[in-house]
Amino acid sequence: MKKFLVIGNPIDHSLSPRLHNYWFKENNIDAVYEKKQVKESDIEGIISEMRNGKIDGINVTVPFKKSVIPFLDKIEIPEKTQSVNTIYIEKNKITGSNKIVGRNTDILGFKYSLEHIKYSVKGKKIFILGAGGVTPSIIYALEEMKPSTIILSNRTKEKAKNLKKLFPQLELVEWGDIKNFDMIINTTSLGLKENDKIPINYDQIGSGKFFYDVIYNPKKTNFLLEAEKRGHQIENGKMMFVYQAQEAFSLFTIAPDVWTGLKPPVNKKVLELLEND
Ligand code: ATR
Repeated sequence: MKKFLVIGNPIDHSLSPRLHNYWFKENNIDAVYEKKQVKESDIEGIISEMRNGKIDGINVTVPFKKSVIPFLDKIEIPEKTQSVNTIYIEKNKITGSNKIVGRNTDILGFKYSLEHIKYSVKGKKIFILGAGGVTPSIIYALEEMKPSTIILSNRTKEKAKNLKKLFPQLELVEWGDIKNFDMIINTTSLGLKENDKIPINYDQIGSGKFFYDVIYNPKKTNFLLEAEKRGHQIENGKMMFVYQAQEAFSLFTIAPDVWTGLKPPVNKKVLELLEND
């Protein structure tokens, strides 16, 4: 039986096991997918378990998406993102050697989540809140979709400045300030806890905007509730989560002699499975 893992800290909230186990079952694959809370110092050991065949694939979540990188044989990610969320084994049929490869499926996850709801970023003004681990992947995906502007605001200015070094197109504003936008994206962790509030003045924001929160549990953060009250379009991070998982599943199921693995459909059943308990 194959074994897969999602690692992070905290990890309790992760719905990855539920989704991947469902897809394994649907595809008659003899595999189990578990979650494991780890410490920074555990990472090297866990990746070596992939080398000796005890683990077949890993998803990585906060806060280890960058720190796994030095332990991999190969990374196939846009360098600017410095973020690996999927680790799989690339088998070479001829030499028989295995390589531990890191990929970033958050980028496509974000892109497909917008395609799913037919939202076009082209020519739009985008406002990003936060400069954490997932933010560069989102900026990278956005830049490919050709918005007119990307404005970014983060509590710790230094981190926003570091992102601007990687993405010079960014326009930085002070934390708490708002500039005119079409779409605003919360990439901070503010909203995970019930009392978390993002310090922006919602009444200062015009009408008909699009509020996107990367958080999917809770289903509606305060950020999305405030937006909904004022009639804006809202979207949480559930579809981004599903599509990044679909890409990861495809990498986990690559056979040595083909290029792509299985891409299970994202259908009603899958979405029901992920309804918050
Ligand atoms: P990391 O920054 O370690 O990668 P993350 O969870 O990926 O962690 O990112 C956390 C993001 O949420 C950051 O943008 C962080 O802002 P800072 O850079 O100022 O820390 C933001 N964040 C978390 N708690 C916050 C709070 N109470 N107020 C404002 N921003 C907060």
